Amino acid sequence: MIEYRGVWKQFGDDSVLSGVDLTVKEGETLVLLGPSGTGKSVLLKHAIGLLTPDRGDVIVDGISIPRATPEELKRVRRRIGYVFQNAALFDSLTIARNLALALDTEGNERPLAAVRPEVAELLRRVNLDEDVLDRYPAELSGGMRKRVGVARAIASRPRYVLYDEPTTGLDPVNAETIDGLIVELAEELGVTSIVVTHDLESAFQVGDRVALLTEGRLRACGTPEEILASEDPVVQRFMHRRFGTAAAQ
Ligand SMILES: Nc1ncnc2c1ncn2[C@@H]1O[C@H](COP(=O)(O)OP(=O)(O)O)[C@@H](O)[C@H]1O
Ligand SMILES: [Mg+2]
Repeated sequence: MIEYRGVWKQFGDDSVLSGVDLTVKEGETLVLLGPSGTGKSVLLKHAIGLLTPDRGDVIVDGISIPRATPEELKRVRRRIGYVFQNAALFDSLTIARNLALALDTEGNERPLAAVRPEVAELLRRVNLDEDVLDRYPAELSGGMRKRVGVARAIASRPRYVLYDEPTTGLDPVNAETIDGLIVELAEELGVTSIVVTHDLESAFQVGDRVALLTEGRLRACGTPEEILASEDPVVQRFMHRRFGTAAAQ
């Protein structure tokens, strides 16, 4: 379970989160929507302790992230896969090495040759060919790097996955592959996840529940049906703008 309890976060004079309450249940896929710059990435980063709240608490798997000891934080982070918005691969390492690092989270690094089959299998899941193994991140397109980022996040079979815009910039076929993977991980492994996206179609496809973050608060949170039926004008406007006529049906 991932629980945000009254989370406040400010950068200088800029108030980003103003009391966010959100519970993501075990095995649930929660999609987080919201305008750019509204604090979606900031919210995700609180769940792995990359940012700490000014007020409030974030509890993952029973551990308060802001109050965790370094050991606790390390332990809980091992159970969380994080897809960074910008992929955040190691530029000086090949794709194979980037993924091998993520496979050996226990610190017992195996030789590259030993993990190569596992690495190739991870790439297959995100629809990438083995020929990218020996290339460097800079030699791949943005969309390919993004998919390597997804492969890396799921490498250690995490119980929780936080996806920050996993399909932004992908062509429709690859976006569908990633959406399919998100659903597969939830169904087969019971993964609990938060998916930040701008793609409403995929949001309603992968999300058990959908939340809308605006002006530092959760404006709405519910099943796709509930969100589409919402009479809140802010919710309606957001859905119409991004979803065209479908939301009106
Ligand atoms: N580490 C940081 N230091 C200062 N400001 C930040 C930091 N991270 C995010 N912000 C600011 O917080 C706001 C929300 O950012 P972000 O969560 O990245 O938005 P988005 O919803 O697009 O993911 C933005 O105004 C951004 O500039
Ligand atoms: Mg973001």
